[in-house]
Amino acid sequence: RILPILLSGGTGTRLWPLSREAYPKQLLPLASNKTMLQETVTRVLAPTHFDPPLIIAHEEHRFIIAEQLRSIGISNARIILEPQGRNTAPAAAVAMMVALHQDPEALILLMPADHVIRDVEKFRQAVALGAGAATKGQFVLFGMKPIEPATGYGYIKMGDPHADIPSVHAVEAFVEKPDQQTAERYVSSNKYLWNSGIFLLPARELLAEFKRLEPDILTSAQEAFTRARHDMDFLRLDAEAFSRCRSISIDHAIMERTQRSVIIPAEFDWTDVGSWSALWDISPKEASGNVILGDVIAEDVKMSYLRSEGPMIAALGVEDIVVVATKDAVLIASKQRDQDVKGLVERLRAEG
Ligand code: GDD
Ligand code: MG
Repeated sequence: RILPILLSGGTGTRLWPLSREAYPKQLLPLASNKTMLQETVTRVLAPTHFDPPLIIAHEEHRFIIAEQLRSIGISNARIILEPQGRNTAPAAAVAMMVALHQDPEALILLMPADHVIRDVEKFRQAVALGAGAATKGQFVLFGMKPIEPATGYGYIKMGDPHADIPSVHAVEAFVEKPDQQTAERYVSSNKYLWNSGIFLLPARELLAEFKRLEPDILTSAQEAFTRARHDMDFLRLDAEAFSRCRSISIDHAIMERTQRSVIIPAEFDWTDVGSWSALWDISPKEASGNVILGDVIAEDVKMSYLRSEGPMIAALGVEDIVVVATKDAVLIASKQRDQDVKGLVERLRAEG
């Protein structure tokens, strides 16, 4: 059986004003009536194939997460709490330790908690396909066909197929978040896939790679785990030790540098709903191409995303825009500029 570990500590600033530090995108019902975290957990609810999930998140979100799990009938998930976000490498290292504590042979499905994957059957098939390679000590990556030269993804150069399992390919290179020019070159070469951010791997081997490549993170993470304390159903990591972990993603720390990875070109649908236009893309639309949610009146409006969680939105004669209204903040943006919402929010924070 496979142990799913969900990374749920991100902030999702490009989806402001809905996604906030207090309520980041994985804890919001963005693409369905379940939150992204609930959807992710549901995807791996199959006692014959998966153990109950382990979730690692910021301590501030502990009650929201516990409540979201309870409301979909899950009572046996374990939740590890980080006193502060140190990006995904330290989180993954600690989660591996918790997993190994229970099973020294643990096979892990490490997953972001904020993706949309609708074809659950195909997703599980892909995982099953990778299990053989992962049991032999390899890190199985799932690659998605790139649709544009986006710079927010990892790019994986796919090599030859495995002799015994033809759907598993060698990895020739892994480049995390390349610059625009490089991304364009990769996409037009047709040899690269996007990294989905989902990894199937043996916990022990991942920690062995941490020891080789990031020994300092491993040492501090180990102390944070050893000195952790139980608090109800939560495991609270030691704040002082965890703060000593360098803040770095697992992609930069391990995946770009390891020789252990292989890749399965995934057949399941996948969207990293990182921005409002990505959300517009996957949402059901009205005849004029608008996504309308909440109290909204639109006249002569086309190809827009209009969403209100409070005040009424009345829009007239506009095209390709995003309007998202909450009780205390309204975003109005051109759909093409939605990547820049991140910068806008940083400015808001700086200016208090
Ligand atoms: N526990 C914890 N702690 N989780 C975290 C932290 C943290 O400090 N930081 C981020 N996460 C969670 C996020 O909530 C998300 O579910 C997942 O880890 C991935 O983090 P992102 O910050 O969203 O990463 P990314 O989107 O920039 O890049 C990753 O995903 C891409 C695909 O969506 C990389 O793996 C890329 O290579 C990949 O293409
Ligand atoms: Mg992401």
